[in-house]
Amino acid sequence: NALFGKGRVNSKGFDLADPLTLAEIEAARKPFAGHRWTAAPLIAGDLAPGTSREVHAPANPEDRVGTVQEASPQDIATALDHARPWDAPAATRAEVLRRAAALYEAHFGELFALLAREAGKTLPDAVGELREAVDFLRYYANEADALTTPARGLFTCISPWNFPLAIFTGQISAALAAGNGVLAKPAETTSLIAHRAVQLMHEAGVPRAALQLLPGEGGVVGAALTSDPRIAGVCFTGSTATAQAINRAMADHLPPTAPLIAETGGLNAMVVDSTALPEQVIRDILASAFQSAGQRCSALRMLYVQEDVADGVIDMLKGAMAELRLGDPWHLSTDIGPVIDARAQADIEAHIDTARSEGRLIAQLGRPAQGHVVPPTLLSLPGGIAELTREVFGPVLHVATYKARDLDKVIKAVNAKGYGLTFGMHSRIDDRVQQVCAAIRVGNTYINRNQIGAVVGSQPFGGEGLSGTGPKAGGPHYVSRFTQAPLRRERA
Ligand code: SER
Repeated sequence: NALFGKGRVNSKGFDLADPLTLAEIEAARKPFAGHRWTAAPLIAGDLAPGTSREVHAPANPEDRVGTVQEASPQDIATALDHARPWDAPAATRAEVLRRAAALYEAHFGELFALLAREAGKTLPDAVGELREAVDFLRYYANEADALTTPARGLFTCISPWNFPLAIFTGQISAALAAGNGVLAKPAETTSLIAHRAVQLMHEAGVPRAALQLLPGEGGVVGAALTSDPRIAGVCFTGSTATAQAINRAMADHLPPTAPLIAETGGLNAMVVDSTALPEQVIRDILASAFQSAGQRCSALRMLYVQEDVADGVIDMLKGAMAELRLGDPWHLSTDIGPVIDARAQADIEAHIDTARSEGRLIAQLGRPAQGHVVPPTLLSLPGGIAELTREVFGPVLHVATYKARDLDKVIKAVNAKGYGLTFGMHSRIDDRVQQVCAAIRVGNTYINRNQIGAVVGSQPFGGEGLSGTGPKAGGPHYVSRFTQAPLRRERA
């Protein structure tokens, strides 16, 4: 592409409105409808015997998706002994990462099936996830070509289940693009997807010693890989509390130069004023709060609607929510799939039950018969974000109203929480938008649109404060954080 240079174009993905494309996807997914995958540590040395566990689909616990052999302490030790930085020239690394992107795209049917069955992803979410993973591979490959600083050594990458392919691949490909060796610990609940992704990266040509996969518990694998002095840096996406625990372990055991690159939680707000376009607002609220069953760190948690229009907006929102279809993400008509597991479901439902007992339930959809599905829920929270005590990671939206003259108080209350990931504003008054953008302290601000789904290369993604360390993923400063600062050689 003449405008963007080699590989600088985002993946086109799939047009889900096109019946032929849908038929192609159906045909490619079909062989994997009842498939059982097996995963085990992928390390450069010999595997020790380990314990295996079964993986069940969150949409249907009777659907057995496969088995995962967890890494034993001996496997972790072997992996650390065999781990090596990737010492191929940058152009070779870039070429291999581009090859991995092409392999991911070629295996779309299997990956969509895995994303639906192991992670509960609807088809639109699975398409978005594959696109983002492929975009990361190509974007960071381009960054490798431009690097002038050397790799740090070995990186531990600890990734979340909510983007089991995209964030997993993003972390690893950035570390690899810079020439590091990677020890990857995937989320326990999505190890099969991680295993398939690493197989494809090996097939593309990433050496085994430069990329090893260690599935298992955070308390075992994560703890070992963040407290070994051979590790030169850690990349983590997950909760703020876990990032803080990792930071403490690193301070005690790793060299003081080792960076923690963390992307963590958020208490994300949206403000809708009386000049906003109601139809657009409703569509954007639904996507921001409920898409991916609200399991995005970027998702909208706290909606502020200007008092003058609040009744109308909430009525329209209730009407639009009633149209959402819940259930099995394999079905093309499903809008909202399950949350990741029974524990997540119980945690979100406990929060809803408390609100219900306090008389704050505005609306909730009916529950489907099967799976860990939490129906999208609207709760009133008259005191606003100050009263939100934690990030509830599911399809639950809190609503408050505000008076026009109090807009700056709303912004101050959002900033006062200390998180700073995404923020949304719906207004047709430019001056007001500019004023809010200048005052709000978040990584990603979205105006008159939804506030999820940052696009690699166009919308670098990441927060500040309790939401993360930066640099932003999918942006021009990310890969260089995985390298050493340039050495200045003075001449005598
Ligand atoms: N990058 C995702 C989004 O923008 C969140 O992790 O929604």
